[in-house]
Amino acid sequence: MAEVEAIGQLRSWRRQQREEGRRVGFVPTMGALHEGHLALVDRARDLSDRVVMSVFVNPLQFGPGEDFTRYPRNLDRDRALAEDRGVDLLFVPTVEALYPEGADTRVVPGTTADRWEGAVRAGHFAGVLTVVAKLFNLVQPDVAVFGQKDIQQVTLVRRMVDDLDFPLRLVVAPTVRDPDGLALSSRNVYLDPPSRAQALGLSRALAAAEQAFADGETNPAALEGRIRAILAGFPGLKPDYIAIIDPERLEAVAAVVPGTIVALAARVGATRLIDNTILGAH
Ligand code: PAF
Repeated sequence: MAEVEAIGQLRSWRRQQREEGRRVGFVPTMGALHEGHLALVDRARDLSDRVVMSVFVNPLQFGPGEDFTRYPRNLDRDRALAEDRGVDLLFVPTVEALYPEGADTRVVPGTTADRWEGAVRAGHFAGVLTVVAKLFNLVQPDVAVFGQKDIQQVTLVRRMVDDLDFPLRLVVAPTVRDPDGLALSSRNVYLDPPSRAQALGLSRALAAAEQAFADGETNPAALEGRIRAILAGFPGLKPDYIAIIDPERLEAVAAVVPGTIVALAARVGATRLIDNTILGAH
């Protein structure tokens, strides 16, 4: 596996791939890699000849008081995992390289970014889209793979790819879970065992929603009631939102249909967790 920090090195590697007719797959990450990220690498590998992974903790997408400084960072471990999984090029830019003195341009998302995560994390998605747009311009992937777990993120990235005409295919890979159902997340390292036990309420509530839908429930209020009933059994979990929404605009639906998303966010102590399911997809 090659590793580059400088934009110029990345560009010349990319030029060479193009000259040699290779398709490039891209997995953007903030590091603290887990099996969820590595499953994205597998998918990118299936769809391309060379896989680029970026590791960059993007300051622009963290608000004041969020966990930018304490976000888990371990490049040695990430490097070993990425290499072992078959990443061809690890791109590890510095903050100064991506946001040099004077950089002042942002990708501003539409109103879909104001809901749910965006309502709680002002400016978060502008930060995400700005870095993703820059990374797309630098890596110039044929295929980019994102995880379903951050479903609002991937919805907004898809919108940006369409709206700004990025010439790439966006692929969404399913959420990877621990055997007990907890969605893998870099932030799970913040959970002590009692908090982790409470965090399981999210996947349990989603499973109940899936079951209710499979049993014929199409009323969003009734579905929300089922979810709240499960969450009540996990008193350490403080829900931020229960969103039963359409996959395009992420607006609350009047009736639940196959493809409707159920997205949850909750806090356990100081840790904020999100999870979701696409109804009828299993
Ligand atoms: O999902 C993430 O890890 C980040 O939001 C991303 C896409 C790498 C942008 O910083």
